[in-house]
Amino acid sequence: MIGRLNHIAIAVPDLAAAAARYRDTLGAVVRPPQDEPNHGVTVVFVELDNTKVELLHPLGNDSPIRAFLDRNPSGGIHHLCYEVDDILAARDRLTAQGARVLGDGTPKIGAHGKPVLFLHPKDFDGCLVELEQV
Ligand code: CO
Repeated sequence: MIGRLNHIAIAVPDLAAAAARYRDTLGAVVRPPQDEPNHGVTVVFVELDNTKVELLHPLGNDSPIRAFLDRNPSGGIHHLCYEVDDILAARDRLTAQGARVLGDGTPKIGAHGKPVLFLHPKDFDGCLVELEQV
């Protein structure tokens, strides 16, 4: 059911320093920061040949990644995003198998303008999983 790895999201305490590390130390193509007020994050996209890395930094006071950074002050992998063809079919299959979808189960429009859902990390080996319909 899941297809390609769309991105790996890493929460970072210092966005400029993290972007510089990927650009200068790792030699990757790094895009300028983008504020995503609807998601409470500022994002820097790192473009790789086969996937993307998204460096996430809190934007605003009730950012959903603030608590994660409080628990992981030096940053850490926040979620993995897999592509699916049909997000509602994927949701129904997952919930039928006992996986928990976060929120009310209705897909939201994600940072790339496509419908997304998040799956409970306790159901996926401690890793928050995002599904994105492509
Ligand atoms: Co994501």
